[in-house]
Amino acid sequence: MTKSSSNQIFDRAKRVFPDGTTRITVDRDPTPIYVTRGEGAWLFSAEGRPYLDCHGNFTVLIHGHAFAPVIEAVERQLRLGTCFANPTEAEVELAERIAGRVPGVDHVRFVNTGTEAVMFAIKAARAVTGRSGIAKIEGAYHGAYDWVEVSQTSSPATWGDAAAPNSVPFYRGMPAAVVEDVVTLPLNDPEAAARLIHQHGHRLAAVVIDPMPSRVGLIPADPGFLEAISTAARAKGVLVIADEVLNFRLGHGGASARFGLRPDLFAFGKIIGGGFPIGAVGGRAEIMAVFSREGGGPAVPQGGTFSANPVSMVAGAASLDHLTPDAFGRLEQLGDRLRQRLEASIRSAGLQMSVTGAASLLRIHPKAAPGDFRQAQLDEPQRLRLKRLVQSFAAAGILVPQSGMLCLSTAMTEAEVDLVADAFDAFVQSEPNPAVERA
Ligand SMILES: Cc1ncc(COP(=O)(O)O)c(C=O)c1O
Repeated sequence: MTKSSSNQIFDRAKRVFPDGTTRITVDRDPTPIYVTRGEGAWLFSAEGRPYLDCHGNFTVLIHGHAFAPVIEAVERQLRLGTCFANPTEAEVELAERIAGRVPGVDHVRFVNTGTEAVMFAIKAARAVTGRSGIAKIEGAYHGAYDWVEVSQTSSPATWGDAAAPNSVPFYRGMPAAVVEDVVTLPLNDPEAAARLIHQHGHRLAAVVIDPMPSRVGLIPADPGFLEAISTAARAKGVLVIADEVLNFRLGHGGASARFGLRPDLFAFGKIIGGGFPIGAVGGRAEIMAVFSREGGGPAVPQGGTFSANPVSMVAGAASLDHLTPDAFGRLEQLGDRLRQRLEASIRSAGLQMSVTGAASLLRIHPKAAPGDFRQAQLDEPQRLRLKRLVQSFAAAGILVPQSGMLCLSTAMTEAEVDLVADAFDAFVQSEPNPAVERA
């Protein structure tokens, strides 16, 4: 417990932060839950209330909070020094672990966020192709680099033709040149996406694809879709960048290995830092050579004051060492158990709801399973149902982001997963069912 309640802290926060928070993504409805500490699968609010953490700081905390091997590695490193201008063996050890488990990654460069990882992957593709444009999926989130922000929040008023979506500015004053540089693709429409890549390929450096884009609806890309965009990209000399910042947690070899995608470049982040800030770009040696000084380079200079800081490096290595194939198998089983239980509750209540996702990630939709970003949009009654759901989880002591996305950790067991399933079952049973009321 702190000396102040969440309400009291928020009152002070409003004096020093615009809208009282430092990230748009902080849930504050009406007040954020201020946290004092986390332990395993649980975190504790300023009021001392425990919450089962199904948020995991935006999916970062795959081992839960205060994971002992990470604490030990970081404590050791803190005494040795937190950052140096010189390289350390720790960065080599983490890079070896990533290259050792991801097919298609020979070389790695570390940065501090997923945003930077995506940005440097795009710059690398530009240097290889001599082109500036990118193609991306409508609604997909890839961090805060301007080009990937285009069409992140398209709406019915702006999005245009489903088979040739408009590229929509993300913020007022976004440079028109950036918007023009982006081709927006519809998820899981292979013909339309391939046609758009063929049509614009001459000006595209890369297609940026997250194989299960969270903000599109945590909807897995169909194998045929990934095949179609990869084939079209290769035909036009366009590189494929896999954004695995979030979905690297889908399996031991990452998301591309799971989905059968063979990208030219990868962006990583989140879990590879063990709970500390990190990003990494990776790929085959001949492409990653754009970052090399050798041969008159680098074509893409990349530095960063805190890039490869040894604290993130040792935390990441300790975290990955415990992400064995067995650990992923257990996460997969927990995810499947929860998915099955949620779906059974939905069926028994007869509500129009659905669950998407894979492995340790699930997203509950207050509507039939969406197939793309447009279908995932909610009308007002659906929005209110989702809000009630998240509130009822919070009332049951379960922290779930407002999007309805649930994230599991190795700190969880069937007992925690069943708490979530029981809370969800109680929620659906208490919800009005319009179909029954009409009958
Ligand atoms: C798919 C994806 N790419 C990129 C990012 C940006 O990562 P960061 O917040 O570390 O900049 C995120 C963050 O949520 C993400 O989910």
